[in-house]
Amino acid sequence: MYSDQQATRGQAVYKQQCAACHGEALRGAQGPPLTTDDFIRNWNKQPLSELVDKIKNTMPANAPGKLTRQQAADIVAYMLQVGQFPGGRAELGADEASLKEITWPAGVVAERRESAPSFAAGAVLSALGNLAQVSAEFSSRART
Ligand code: HEC
Repeated sequence: MYSDQQATRGQAVYKQQCAACHGEALRGAQGPPLTTDDFIRNWNKQPLSELVDKIKNTMPANAPGKLTRQQAADIVAYMLQVGQFPGGRAELGADEASLKEITWPAGVVAERRESAPSFAAGAVLSALGNLAQVSAEFSSRART
């Protein structure tokens, strides 16, 4: 849905015009992070055209309205790459109609959410293990 080449173009624009506020690694600074689960959860409910519009119309916050739609789409391609969504050969289109058809891929967030309960279950199990150990020790001490 985007090509690596496009993401590289987006990266160049990002470094120049966005990194100062959103961080070199898109993890946020003065501006909010652009690659966390929270960000994705917020934006994967709406078509990518909304995100491209938001960038094109309101960013950079200190000089908005200067980016072309193509540049905004390139930056979104870069954001997808940083978010580790696999690229392809086709570019992410800059036109409204095709962007409206695409939403932020939810895959990565969904995977992380699925792995969360098993981590919690692991924590509960080891907590239970500790309890069992403690009570075993306690009863052996009580016996002597
Ligand atoms: C001068 C600082 C500054 C610069 C430069 C800047 N931003 Fe921002 N950006 C902000 C602030 C502050 C916000 C939060 C307020 C808002 O959403 O408008 C924001 C919000 C955003 C959001 C919405 C985040 C969300 O969680 O919904 C996106 C996307 C974004 N910026 C992208 C960019 C891109 C792409 C560039 C470069 C072309 C850029 N910004 C340059 C300060 C900046």
